Amino acid sequence: MIASVLDHLICPSCGGALFPSPGVEDASGEILYGVVRCECAEYPIVEGIMSLGTGSGTPEVVDLVKRGDRHGALALSLSEGAQRALGRLRWVSRRRVFGRLAGRVLIAWALRQAAGDKRRLTTDAPLCSILGTSTFETYLKHRFSAESFWPVFALLPLLRQRNGVVLDIGCGIGHASFAIATTIRPSTLFSIDRTFWELFLARRYMSPESTVIAIDVNGPLPFRDASIDCVVALDMFHYVDSPAALVREIERVTSQDGLVTMLHVHNALQSNVAAGKPLPPTSWLQLFHRIPVRAFSEPRLVEDFMVRDQLDLLQAHQADEIDAANAIDLIGSRDGLLFRRYEGIREGALDARANLRINPIYRRIPDDGAMRLEREFPSEYFRQEYPLSEKYLPPSVVIDGLSADADLPRFVEERSEFVRHLMDNFVILPLPERYL
Ligand SMILES: C[S@@+](CC[C@H](N)C(=O)[O-])C[C@H]1O[C@@H](n2cnc3c(N)ncnc32)[C@H](O)[C@@H]1O
Repeated sequence: MIASVLDHLICPSCGGALFPSPGVEDASGEILYGVVRCECAEYPIVEGIMSLGTGSGTPEVVDLVKRGDRHGALALSLSEGAQRALGRLRWVSRRRVFGRLAGRVLIAWALRQAAGDKRRLTTDAPLCSILGTSTFETYLKHRFSAESFWPVFALLPLLRQRNGVVLDIGCGIGHASFAIATTIRPSTLFSIDRTFWELFLARRYMSPESTVIAIDVNGPLPFRDASIDCVVALDMFHYVDSPAALVREIERVTSQDGLVTMLHVHNALQSNVAAGKPLPPTSWLQLFHRIPVRAFSEPRLVEDFMVRDQLDLLQAHQADEIDAANAIDLIGSRDGLLFRRYEGIREGALDARANLRINPIYRRIPDDGAMRLEREFPSEYFRQEYPLSEKYLPPSVVIDGLSADADLPRFVEERSEFVRHLMDNFVILPLPERYL
């Protein structure tokens, strides 16, 4: 975390300014480990990630950082289990007799519990090898192939209009932050979520450019009024306890002509797996009072992107079409000029050519100087939940003249038009450097 970004931030509890403790930043201004304080609290920075919560584990992590125990601070931050246990057993260390000793034993025990999580998450292996085989972790591996991710690609031309200070709320392990950082290159990108281990992977693998903050957005956002040019919240709005409170905060922090995009928001009128707490489209819209917001059918925006190579924000979607969509996209701004038609958007959307790879959803079968690719959904659940992914990701492809992954950079150089076609179908994707 760069010390200067603290100027954008306030304490979510007292609203006061945040100051780094003396001596925590290195020569480049980067704070990897340190403590930040305001009038009411102390917050830890661990591996460059600031945690702005006061829940279980935080005082212990602050203490470990202050004592210079970086391994301990990281282990405890990464382990939700150990933090929960500390929260539940804290009464032990409050006992008058032997309280301090018991407290130390408790922390030592929690750190032993946390060591396994740390070992698993801090190896040098590529991201996809670290992720396990649970439904959730295979979903994370194949996040770029899920149609619920594709509104990010479809909206990149719009996001590009407000690429100053961008905030990705509920960023998870950072797939959207990666796409935003590599294509629209904001001046500052905040990636925030409440889950530390996901943020750790986001910063390490997906979006090292991000300023990463662990915070529960059921409480206030830690940003100054009108300090954010563009808010992106993908597949998270239906998971917060009070969407009305989050909207009030989003409206407070968004700049006068800023842009708000709440993407893949579940519609209560339709069924969704892991639905969270969905609302009907009209109720989602009624949450916004200070920024005019319009609702769009997400399947239509995705198909406009895939088939018509356009983002059409000029033509309103009819209420019955919006009601029939399993997920909607809410787009808001006081600048009405942003609501226009953007044409020829695919070229720019998939621009980042830095690390083009074959989409991991394809099994690669070398075949006599060619490569045969067979689409393999990670689960039946994935296939059923994402009908547009099934519709648009070709089931099999033969790539003549490519026999091994290692030849891909040369192939990209020599066959750029065919590669463009494969990128248009998500067969070849720009991926973070150490994703596979
Ligand atoms: C389905 S995931 C989506 C992650 C990412 N936006 C994406 O689409 O790939 C929902 C994310 O929202 C986060 N989240 C849910 N409720 C939250 C809260 N109250 N505060 C902060 N993050 C929250 C979760 O930790 C999780 O990472």
